[in-house]
Amino acid sequence: MNFPPETLFLDDAHSALVILDQSLLPGEVKYIPLTTLEQVYDAIKELKVRGAPAIGVAAAMGIYIHMKRYVQSNRPEVGGFLTELERAGVYLSLSRPTAVNLRWALREMSEAVRNQKAKNASELVHILHSCCEQIKDKDIETNKRIGEHGAALIKPDMGILTHCNAGALATTGYGTALAPIYYAHERGVRLRVYADETRPVLQGARLTAFELQRAGVDVTLICDNMAATVMANGWVDAVFVGCDRVAANGDTANKIGTHGVAILAKRFNIPFYVCAPFSTIDRDTSTGADIVIEERDPAEITDLWYTKPMAPLGVKVFNPSFDVTPGELITAFITEKGMINAPF
Ligand code: MRU
Repeated sequence: MNFPPETLFLDDAHSALVILDQSLLPGEVKYIPLTTLEQVYDAIKELKVRGAPAIGVAAAMGIYIHMKRYVQSNRPEVGGFLTELERAGVYLSLSRPTAVNLRWALREMSEAVRNQKAKNASELVHILHSCCEQIKDKDIETNKRIGEHGAALIKPDMGILTHCNAGALATTGYGTALAPIYYAHERGVRLRVYADETRPVLQGARLTAFELQRAGVDVTLICDNMAATVMANGWVDAVFVGCDRVAANGDTANKIGTHGVAILAKRFNIPFYVCAPFSTIDRDTSTGADIVIEERDPAEITDLWYTKPMAPLGVKVFNPSFDVTPGELITAFITEKGMINAPF
């Protein structure tokens, strides 16, 4: 199977976090080095690296690179190191508000050094290095397990619909919602995938279709407003999506449009599965109403992808990046520890 190119990695010799610039896919496969905290912030904000688990790993590695460079140029005491670490973490956590993995990964990094009795700041930099590599390794391991558990639901000749990109590119390997599909495909199970194009940023068309086609999976691209048609035709046996945050009651934030897909799945009696690493389950958020939804630049709707504006100048635009699917529409969560069935 031909997996997509690596999402991101550390180039420690050059003190850089290297990311695959996803804003250029599928046309161009280009890696860019990020050496400052501001570059990491911008890359996350501008969706050059995106997908909840991938931005968590990118933030952790970005913090490591920043603190390594900070120690080299400022030679701080342990106290000064911890103050800068706190400042940098708060700054990066503001790059995208909805995905909870970002804050989770930053907390892991902070806790890794705060519980140490280090003699100097250089020792703390080493600890940050191993912590961010562990977060990446854990992400890959988690996704493999989600793949294994989810693949048990996939029967030969099934049609699966997915929304946005919760694949290898949204993580550091395999993906969450696409992991069961890869797992089944590797074992020779024949299946069909319908990928919603996912307006307005087209993660489904540009990324999901790209990586599934590359892996040799039978994928058909549809516009978001065609999901009801493929379901009514009887072509969809299950929906698999990823998530950015799961509230304590099971309400789930994911890419805008996911809620609509869940309503359709209910209407057509199709199981709706959310693939959720435990790092996206946020017990501190009681219900979906408490999840902060990121709103993005209106130009993503009016101008992006077009050679000329496709809406009257100055028209009011509402561009929420995510929506919340109520837990009651979710058949089950597929996690690295197994399935979680209702009631949540
Ligand atoms: O805005 P994006 O592209 O970061 O949105 C991504 C999604 O909504 C994914 O479904 C989610 O992050 C899960 S990725 C495994």
